[in-house]
Amino acid sequence: MNKPNLYLRSNGLQRRDAEEIMNKYGQQLQWKGDAKESLLDIGCGSGDVLIDFVIPAMPRADAQILGTDVSEHMVRFARKAHSSRKNVFFDTLDIGAEINYFLDKWGQFDHITSFYCLHWVRYQNLAFSNIFSLLKTGGDCLLAFLARNPIFDIYGQLSRSSKWTKYLTDVDKYISPYQYCENPAAEIGEILSSVGFSEYKIQITDKIYVYEGIESLKKAVQAVNPFSERMTRNLQEDFLNDYIGVVQGMSLSQDYCENGNDYKFITPYKLVVVYAVK
Ligand SMILES: C[S@@+](CC[C@H](N)C(=O)[O-])C[C@H]1O[C@@H](n2cnc3c(N)ncnc32)[C@H](O)[C@@H]1O
Repeated sequence: MNKPNLYLRSNGLQRRDAEEIMNKYGQQLQWKGDAKESLLDIGCGSGDVLIDFVIPAMPRADAQILGTDVSEHMVRFARKAHSSRKNVFFDTLDIGAEINYFLDKWGQFDHITSFYCLHWVRYQNLAFSNIFSLLKTGGDCLLAFLARNPIFDIYGQLSRSSKWTKYLTDVDKYISPYQYCENPAAEIGEILSSVGFSEYKIQITDKIYVYEGIESLKKAVQAVNPFSERMTRNLQEDFLNDYIGVVQGMSLSQDYCENGNDYKFITPYKLVVVYAVK
């Protein structure tokens, strides 16, 4: 995901959920209220969710904030877009890899947030163990990520078609680790305990998002499509059209928009919210 401009124009679902989660759980984070208070956001993307919903929930606007992302494009974009904020920094971090260099550079944090990122990480144990290491003792984290979403089934289906198979050979890497899991809460709980968390809450919610019109769904898919960098522009468009074709053949609810000239797509998904204290 290297397209911050596109992401920023098509992240209505992610923004809606981040706002709801911060309203509902933001006050569970044990804010200290001093200027040294530090917060790390993992997978910050374009940075707007961190700026618009996380920072406003903190008691002081001058706390030390670090937004991170595995994508250098995203980090560069966020740094430039939010350069006027002197206490907000951005850096690269792959939360699913070795992080000693990062810990040496930035140390540990009072709080960690992460929205719509952790389902992209293959090595869940390592990701959660890194989060544990990055927290100060007594620090806490609020993490939201997808358990299930039909988008992942569609990737799977397209990967089996002869037309797209060579572009989606590693499709499993981009499917939520919990997509086909019977009891994601139990699995996530086991991981949290195994990396050292003893105090945590896991909530899994059934949610719905309505994409108003084919173009709106296409833009949202393109903004997070991990395969598009392997395709020419024409092929990317072709892929999105085939994607819509699969959606229309699925049992997802579909209805006419109010103007009667377009469809709206009613997408159900399962969102995980974890609150944990070290
Ligand atoms: C859907 S965006 C979410 C951005 C932002 N948190 C929001 O809610 O709008 C997911 C972000 O996670 C990043 N990401 C994916 N894998 C990651 C990893 N292993 N470590 C850190 N960031 C990662 C992607 O580059 C992308 O910017």
